[in-house]
Amino acid sequence: MKFARIGFLLSLVLALTNTAVANERIGDFALLDDQGKFHQLSYYGDYQAVAVLVSGLSSQADKEQLSAFAELAATRSDDVVFWVLNPNPEMDREAVRAALDSQQIDLPVLMDESQLVAKSLSARTFGEVFVLNPQAATLMQRTSTDELKTTLTALDGGLLQVSSQTASNALTGELIQYANVGPVSYNADIVPILERNCVSCHHDGAIAPWSMSSHAMVMGWSPMMKEVVMTKRMPPGQIDPHVGMPIKDVAGLSIEEKQKLIQWIEDGSPRGEGEDQLATLKFDDPEFSLGEPDIVLDVAPQAIPATGVIDYRYVPVELNLDKDVWVSGIEFLPGDRQVLHHVITYLQSPADKTENDGRDDDGTGLGIGGFAPGRQPDSFQDNSGRLIPAGSNLLLQMHYTTSGRETVDATRIGIFLHDEPPKYVMSGGVAGQRRFMIPPGAKEHKLRGEELIERDAYLYEMMPHMHFRGKYMSYSAEFPDGTTKTLLSVPKYDFNWQFKYELEEPLFLPAGTKLIAEGAMDNSDRNLGNPDPTRPVFFGLQTMHEMFFGFTTIRYVGDVPKTQLVDQSTNDTALESAGGG
Ligand code: HEC
Repeated sequence: MKFARIGFLLSLVLALTNTAVANERIGDFALLDDQGKFHQLSYYGDYQAVAVLVSGLSSQADKEQLSAFAELAATRSDDVVFWVLNPNPEMDREAVRAALDSQQIDLPVLMDESQLVAKSLSARTFGEVFVLNPQAATLMQRTSTDELKTTLTALDGGLLQVSSQTASNALTGELIQYANVGPVSYNADIVPILERNCVSCHHDGAIAPWSMSSHAMVMGWSPMMKEVVMTKRMPPGQIDPHVGMPIKDVAGLSIEEKQKLIQWIEDGSPRGEGEDQLATLKFDDPEFSLGEPDIVLDVAPQAIPATGVIDYRYVPVELNLDKDVWVSGIEFLPGDRQVLHHVITYLQSPADKTENDGRDDDGTGLGIGGFAPGRQPDSFQDNSGRLIPAGSNLLLQMHYTTSGRETVDATRIGIFLHDEPPKYVMSGGVAGQRRFMIPPGAKEHKLRGEELIERDAYLYEMMPHMHFRGKYMSYSAEFPDGTTKTLLSVPKYDFNWQFKYELEEPLFLPAGTKLIAEGAMDNSDRNLGNPDPTRPVFFGLQTMHEMFFGFTTIRYVGDVPKTQLVDQSTNDTALESAGGG
């Protein structure tokens, strides 16, 4: 009996020293904090260290450790980043803010909802402090708030003894209760997770560069899969799930899915029994995902050199329409996804042909749709559409990036038409900002734009658009009665993934509502996509300039198709059923 207990203690000590020993690679990770802000370890590679206090944020001991940690943070914030890590599922954002406010502490609390970061640190008790090397994503020291000052001084002097010992007092803290993930089966758990979250892009012929076509493939990619899941890079298009309106088909793994996938990878991606279910998945990819288009347009093939920067190309496409048509959807099939970066379609109607090219100088133009990596095809909901007047042509703004090899891009466009004019008109809008100067090196230059809704309307979609320095963007509505509502938050904007976020239910916006887009630009060298951190950046159409646009898709109540195809009775019915708001 006694022997067994000693054995247990011994294995505990061994477990502690064997897991997450100093200088062990922890791996990069990213979490949202209690305010919904995105933090990624590697972003702070220009700091000497990141100190992470694992806290339960509730007991007396937690409070004392928080105070000590915050006190040290106040003196060392220039070269050390201080984070509180909250793996305690009982403390939600509100509870965390209340706890911090009661102590007047202002530190980001990273919400480790899946507990995967605490686990990767092998954190056992609240009160442990982990000193991380943000550049290498390694553990430099396990310590406690009592010892942290000494640790940091040693670090300054280059004298930090790499040590796997947990400071003794940290071990007296309350044990972290980890969720029991249980055994994970490849066929029963992992394949469905991949099928729900990844395989739509990661299969042969789809847009991702590698296919999750078998266990062997996934196993080979598993370290990379862990990294992209831990840093929230994949699946792309993730939003802050705790704020905003319900969004259709939103990307992101559930907490349980994440725990299972990571556990399975850490267990060595075991194959398990039975036929490989991933290999049995069949894909029926129609050429156009929206169906059979009414009009297919072949864009003149574009020769793309192997290297260099290519100016935007403006490519005209003839439509030859002898009558007005109403578009119900539009889909782009890029000829070469590796080089085609985006397409914006400008409509050149006979009326505005003489004035300019049909594009407004703010770059928003009178578009009917577009393409960007990851952007879903446009399909107008609720019997709505957009008009293309007879005699119009399209002008495509095509942005190419070179890929290291010469190629020819032959893009195709599918246009889907309403047989009858739709009941409603779908309009585009923008809450944007054009007058700005982003100073060189600025890590978080905040911008804000507004769109005043002058008539009763319904909001359908939101699409944040910025260029390489885009960092984050959120949308909110300020209603005429003075109330406000957060609609969407994209905490980590990625220029390579310009998603359109469609509301599950369109939101009524009474006349006088203001839509507000708030966000920030990162013009520093920590932004790996930044072409030149030494220069100030202004508004402009080219990607070396910046844009700050919160695009919206809106249907104005009472805006009904007005063409000779519609008789007045249809119009009246449409107005009535719209109810005038
Ligand atoms: C919307 C399409 C899409 C979805 C969904 C998606 N991926 Fe990807 N994935 C891509 C594309 C495109 C790339 C290559 C470009 C890039 O890295 O952004 C990629 C790249 C990757 C890479 C390689 C990264 C690198 O740096 O080489 C990994 C690993 C990966 N994805 C894993 C996943 C996992 C795991 C999921 C699901 C949890 C997932 N992806 C979901 C489109 C997708």
